[in-house]
Amino acid sequence: MKDIYKVSVGDTVFEVKAGETISDAAQRQGLKVRLSCRNGVCWVCEATVDVGSLFDASQGQNIGPGGVVRLCRSITLSDAVLATDSIFQPGNVVAKEFACQVAAIKPLSDDVFSVLLRLPAGTKGDFVAGQYLSINLPDADPAFFSIASQPDSRDIELHVQASPMRESAMTILNHLRESLTVKISLAYGKACLNHPPSGPVILIAAGTGYAQVRSIMEALIAQGFAYPIKLFWGGREKRDLYLLEEAERFANQHANIEFYPVYADIEDNDWSGHHAQLVNAVLSTTADLTAAEIFVSGSPGLVYEALDEFIENGLDEQKFYSDVLEYAPRN
Ligand code: FES
Repeated sequence: MKDIYKVSVGDTVFEVKAGETISDAAQRQGLKVRLSCRNGVCWVCEATVDVGSLFDASQGQNIGPGGVVRLCRSITLSDAVLATDSIFQPGNVVAKEFACQVAAIKPLSDDVFSVLLRLPAGTKGDFVAGQYLSINLPDADPAFFSIASQPDSRDIELHVQASPMRESAMTILNHLRESLTVKISLAYGKACLNHPPSGPVILIAAGTGYAQVRSIMEALIAQGFAYPIKLFWGGREKRDLYLLEEAERFANQHANIEFYPVYADIEDNDWSGHHAQLVNAVLSTTADLTAAEIFVSGSPGLVYEALDEFIENGLDEQKFYSDVLEYAPRN
């Protein structure tokens, strides 16, 4: 009997100590594992053994090639190859559709609403902080929203900006108001915390982009992240920063967090001419960008202006994350 075995799932290989459950070993090495009961009852964590031999305590027997095990209750007796979609790299969640209960809708400002969706019983939000989901209304294209809340909860919070001038968002909000349930697909996006940052973090949001950076911020706090975190949140006017007190609280309650509200109180619905204001706020308060990991949630105009300016000021491009880079790539 060896002390450590190698277990493969697709391209992912991880080590499992003798006597350690497969799910514990995978999580210990930073992988995500789809779990619910953790007691061999619900089968959410099932895997087929392709190669090797495992002991599944929930079945009380050794399982070989062709057999099915529950990862939360199985230890391996040899190097093994498993087939399962219950172990995956953070950020590589395969989007799945769920019918969610519309649990609550409440205004955060004149035109921004907190929407609370509740996943089906026995299900938890399988995503990484910083990812987004789609709301799938009948006969309509999917509508994408950043997730403002934390993974591993039945409740998922979104921040939806809707007003008569924003017709499609208004349609979605009205549908949610009139419906008991709604279909969503979860989760998308690579601009997320799929690895623990190894240096200072800068979070930049415009408007409801705050939802994404809020989820990242709360995840970092929950992890006890000790490096400095700077949060920059921009809007046309102060009232656009619809959770200003919450953002201030992050800074007041954590010595390593600084919050910079950025607004101009000007009449400009587009705000596109003022990306520089947000970018300059970062540059004027940050002497060294070389070690920073930067997450930006806003329009393509903001994201690419920030990217160009920050690279000129020493940022490692590999440490710049935004969903815009995926959905609106620059040629
Ligand atoms: S989490 Fe329920 S069987 Fe493993």
